[in-house]
Amino acid sequence: MRVIRTIEQLREALEYLRGGGHTPIGFVPTMGYLHEGHASLLRRAAEQSGTVVMSIFVNPLQFGPNEDFAAYPRDEARDLALAEREGADIVFMPSVEEMYPQAIRTTVSVSVLTDRLCGASRPGHFEGVATVVSKLFGIVQPDYAYFGLKDAQQVAVLRRMVSDLNMNVKIVACPIVRENDGLALSSRNVYLSEEERRQALVLSRSLREVRAALEEGKVRTVNEAKAMLQSVISSSPLAVIDYAEILTFPALEPLEGNSRLLEADGELIIALAVKFGRTRLIDNNVFTAKEVHALV
Ligand code: PAF
Repeated sequence: MRVIRTIEQLREALEYLRGGGHTPIGFVPTMGYLHEGHASLLRRAAEQSGTVVMSIFVNPLQFGPNEDFAAYPRDEARDLALAEREGADIVFMPSVEEMYPQAIRTTVSVSVLTDRLCGASRPGHFEGVATVVSKLFGIVQPDYAYFGLKDAQQVAVLRRMVSDLNMNVKIVACPIVRENDGLALSSRNVYLSEEERRQALVLSRSLREVRAALEEGKVRTVNEAKAMLQSVISSSPLAVIDYAEILTFPALEPLEGNSRLLEADGELIIALAVKFGRTRLIDNNVFTAKEVHALV
C-alpha cells in the first residue's frame, strides 16, 4: 500500500496503474478515524476494482464555523493500518494547503435536495461535500466511488451531482454498519459519554419500532409514523431531536401527512438527526412499501 500526499504524485501513480491495466479504479473518500463502516466500503471496493484508492481528508469546507473541524478525531497510524488490512492499494492524505492552495472561488452546489434534513441544520455543509468530492473525482477519476448509506442524504446529493454534471463515475451505496446493540457506526461516536451512548440506542430502536408497527398495521400514515418516532426518541431524556422525517428517496420529497406509507411508490427514507449533549447523531432506514408488504 502506498501513502501519497500530493495530487501530482497521485496522478502519476494512477496513470502508471491504468497503463498496467489495474482497472477499474474503486475510490473510497473518507475523513479518517476509520471504523468497520469504512472497512466494509474498502472490502466492497476490493471486490469490484483492480485498484482501490482511499482518501483521508478532513475537509474544512463542509464544517460550519461553530462545528467540530478542529476537534474532529484523527488517528493517522491506526487509519493506515486498517486501510492496509482491508485492501487499499493507495491512501491519499493531502494537507488542507494541497487541496485548497488558494481561496476557493468555484464551488458545487446541488439545490433542493440540500435545503432539508441535514442541509437545513448545517447550512453550506453539502456545498462543501459536493465541492471536495468533485475535486477528488477530478483527481482520482475513479470508475466506482463507495459511500455508506448512514449518510443517505449525502448519497442522494452526490448521485444527483454526478447525474447533473455527467461525471463518469458510478456511486455505489453500501449498507449501514451497526454495533451489535444497533448503534450506527460513526467517527463521532467517540464524543459520547457512557450515558449518552446508552441513550443514543433510541435512534436505531425508534427505526425498528416504526418499521415493526408498519408491518403490523399499528401505524399507517406519515403523521402517525412521525408521531411514533417523536414519542420513542423523547423517551430518552438526553435526546434533543433535530429532525425525524419521512421523505421519498433519493428525491427527498416530503409526503402528505395523511398519506399511507404502504401505498407509496418507490423508496422512502425515515431519517433522524438527534443531539446527545454536544454530539449530533444521524441514522435512517430506507425501504419500499413492497418490501414491508412482503414481511406482513
Ligand atoms: O462522508 C464523509 O466522510 C465526507 O463527507 C466525504 C464524503 C469524505 C467528503 O469529505
